[in-house]
Amino acid sequence: MNVSIIGTGYVGLTTGACLAFLGHKVTCIDADERKVKALQAGKIPFYEPHLPELVAGARHNLSFTTEYAQSIPTSQVIFIAVGTPPGQNGAPDLKYLEAAARGIGEYLSGDFVVVVNKSTVPIGSGNWVESIVRDAYEKRTSKKANGVFAVASNPEFLREGSAIFDSLYPDRVVVGSDNQRTAEVLYSLYRPLLEQTFIAPSYLPRPDRMGAVPLISADLASAELIKYAANAFLALKISYINEIGQLAEKVGADITQVAKGIGLDARIGTRFLQAGIGWGGSCFGKDTAALVATAGEYGLDAGIVKAAREMNRRQRERVVDKLLDELKILKGRTICLLGLAFKPDTDDLREAPALDIARKLIERGARVKAHDPVAMSRFLQEYPDLDVTLCASAEEAAQDCDAVVLVTEWQQYRELDWESIKNSMRGQVLLDGRNLLDRARLAKAGFRYLSLAG
Ligand code: UDX
Repeated sequence: MNVSIIGTGYVGLTTGACLAFLGHKVTCIDADERKVKALQAGKIPFYEPHLPELVAGARHNLSFTTEYAQSIPTSQVIFIAVGTPPGQNGAPDLKYLEAAARGIGEYLSGDFVVVVNKSTVPIGSGNWVESIVRDAYEKRTSKKANGVFAVASNPEFLREGSAIFDSLYPDRVVVGSDNQRTAEVLYSLYRPLLEQTFIAPSYLPRPDRMGAVPLISADLASAELIKYAANAFLALKISYINEIGQLAEKVGADITQVAKGIGLDARIGTRFLQAGIGWGGSCFGKDTAALVATAGEYGLDAGIVKAAREMNRRQRERVVDKLLDELKILKGRTICLLGLAFKPDTDDLREAPALDIARKLIERGARVKAHDPVAMSRFLQEYPDLDVTLCASAEEAAQDCDAVVLVTEWQQYRELDWESIKNSMRGQVLLDGRNLLDRARLAKAGFRYLSLAG
């Protein structure tokens, strides 16, 4: 099939590369000329494991352009995967979505095409996108748009850092549409993925017990709500375990054991029960805010989701409170942050806890040094005014510090020579914000080991 993808961010580029890998002819469209030039030259604009290999391997099926005219008229499926950054009052800003929908309407040829919303949009946006595409098409052609296109919602569930794995081996594919023909087109598009008939790439073998992928075929509004309900639920799980973590600290329980003990109940599940600083990233904060905003529009309170957000905010404050408790005075102290990215295996800094923590420490007069294995150049580009000294290694960042805070659970931090790090520090406080490290070993090395749960 001929496919266009508008937007070459995490979602768009990953989707495009996967569909090209599955054998479709994919054109990725982005308004940013520099980005498109870089992609044409084989450069990936962000860090995502295996994406460069996937793009290189699917090159013969993949092209990049800034021009809608190049592929929209000949596409059977058009994905909208533009950013929907947080706007005012928790509702996402939809200006890029609107521009993409208008662009599509201006170039549709008249043969039936499915326009798929992959951006996370407020519930009801499918109909709104449809009206924009329709208006643009009818204005240009002076013909009715009936039968020319249909809008579908196909939310993504990929996690940054494992985006390719999640795209090739999803738990389910959700397709929302109010039109039977649309569901059939998308079934054909995803068939190799649903039936798992493609040859797995050598760098990402198919998981052992992987069977056919369930397809959830729903109406538009349900598909849109599935996305928000899924992300909010995962966010709730994390805030819940962090709430239990606070209690564990008081009663002297070990939160990691508690999480395992409840998670092995299949009704609960072990994933997203890792206690610590809490969530960051482009989705959970934005999607929970949007869910609360939408509920508010209908006179509902969404109190559970609000509480999860509040718990997540407080976890960041607790980092500073704990340091204050230990060090008594933060003015003039030097604090080392290990990890800047919102989670390991990505250089994404959106809503990263490290940013908030650094700001709060600086406000209290502390100096902040930091290290991250991949996110430092992005940090320099995006936060030139945040007064953090970046260091080439974790060891250098910790040197002469009063305390070290492990903010992002990069695996390499587990293997550091913590004994020699301790000897190079001025103080002995180590706050393990992700419960990653071996408490006994660190205590033996002379650290005063702290976590957010005991
Ligand atoms: C998330 C969803 O998982 C994905 O389905 C959706 O489409 C986009 O949002 P992502 O933001 O890339 O993906 O990362 P994810 O792995 O879900 O982690 C989100 C945040 O939660 C991270 O900051 C992570 O550190 C934190 N987290 C995750 C925890 O604090 N504890 C956990 O147990 C799991």
